[in-house]
Amino acid sequence: MTPPEAKNIIQSLIVMNETLKQGIFSEQVHQALLLASEALDKFAKQEQPNNTLANKEDLKTPLYCLVYTSLASQKMSDDNLKYFLQIIRHKNQLRQLTGMLLYLDPFFIQALEGEETVVNQLFDVIKKDSRHHKISLIYKKPITERHFANWTMGFSKISYKDIETLDGFSDFLQKPSIEFFNRSNNEVDELLYKFKHEILF
Ligand SMILES: Cc1cc2nc3c(=O)[nH]c(=O)nc-3n(C[C@H](O)[C@H](O)[C@H](O)COP(=O)(O)O)c2cc1C
Repeated sequence: MTPPEAKNIIQSLIVMNETLKQGIFSEQVHQALLLASEALDKFAKQEQPNNTLANKEDLKTPLYCLVYTSLASQKMSDDNLKYFLQIIRHKNQLRQLTGMLLYLDPFFIQALEGEETVVNQLFDVIKKDSRHHKISLIYKKPITERHFANWTMGFSKISYKDIETLDGFSDFLQKPSIEFFNRSNNEVDELLYKFKHEILF
């Protein structure tokens, strides 16, 4: 199976998963999607070291990654999050956007990857969304390849217990604040990459 074939299968699974509302079948599709994504990730790394999306994509403007943090305006239940993700994943797929969203109640950390103009336009919309506030840009930079190429928006919910064992988070654990993320780019990246493999739904 070639990477484009595998990618098509994954995209079909993503669409299927998003259309299935609930139940055991949806969970099975989700598991299949995770396995297929991991297999493709490994395959792409082993067989096609230079075959990045950046090379393959016909980009009008450079590939960019934007990372921000914010505070959720209300507690988000799993059902709310699932519904919300279903919608934004569909929108991102249409705009060739990929990324990762972390929810560490009440904080959001989001990485958005795609064409610079598309990323900037979406961030302008996201900044005005009343479901969160205190939006704070962590960084915005050109990238040569996507770090979340297989995710139209990966999602993981992190607990405070999850980060107790990680270095560099003691200040945050003592006094959780958005300011911590603003001065800790490395820790923000660490969370994004660590939890990329622990997609919740
Ligand atoms: C934390 C957070 C993350 C979001 N991420 C995305 C996203 O990745 N893609 C997206 O299209 N909308 C995202 N949204 C939703 C947008 O703010 C906005 O509601 C949506 O894009 C509006 O689409 P519309 O103008 O087509 O109605 C996010 C909202 C929040 C609160």
